[in-house]
Amino acid sequence: MADKLNILVICGSLRKGSYNAALTRALPALAPEGMNLITAPPIGTFPLYNADIQDASGFPGPAEDLAAAIRAADGVLFVTPEYNWSMPGVLKNAIDWLSRMTPQPFAAKPIAMFGAAILMYFVVQTQLVK
Ligand SMILES: Cc1cc2nc3c(=O)[nH]c(=O)nc-3n(C[C@H](O)[C@H](O)[C@H](O)COP(=O)(O)O)c2cc1C
Repeated sequence: MADKLNILVICGSLRKGSYNAALTRALPALAPEGMNLITAPPIGTFPLYNADIQDASGFPGPAEDLAAAIRAADGVLFVTPEYNWSMPGVLKNAIDWLSRMTPQPFAAKPIAMFGAAILMYFVVQTQLVK
C-alpha cells in the first residue's frame, strides 16, 4: 500500500462561481495527514452519453482520462450540489460513461460524497462496485 491514500475529488458543478468548485479547490491543502486529495480531470467536456458514439469511436478521451485517474486512486470523493433531489446531469452523464467501461473504474473503490447545499436528500445507489 502507498504511504498516503490518494483520493480523487470529482466536482459536480460546472458553474464559474460554484461553491462546490471552490470547495474542491480548497481541499488539497486541507487533506489530513496520510491522505492526498487530488482534483480530478474535468467532466464538463464529456459528450452526452450515446451508445452509438461508443460503438463508433469508443470512449471519449476525457472519459478515458477520468477512468484512468479513478483506477489510480484509492478512493473517490464527489463534491457536488444537489439538483432537484438528485445529482446534476453532468455528473450522472460522466458516471454513465464510466459505468460502461471494463475494467470497471469504480470496482472496489470506497466512495464518499459531500457538497455545499442547503439540503442534500439524494441517495446514491450503485451497482458498479462488484
Ligand atoms: C437546476 C437546479 C436544481 C437545484 N436543486 C436543488 C435541490 O434539490 N436541493 C438543494 O438543496 N439545492 C438545489 N439547488 C440549489 C443549488 O444547491 C445551489 O444553486 C448551489 O449553489 C449549486 O452548487 P454550485 O454553487 O456548486 O454551482 C438547485 C439549483 C439548480 C440550478
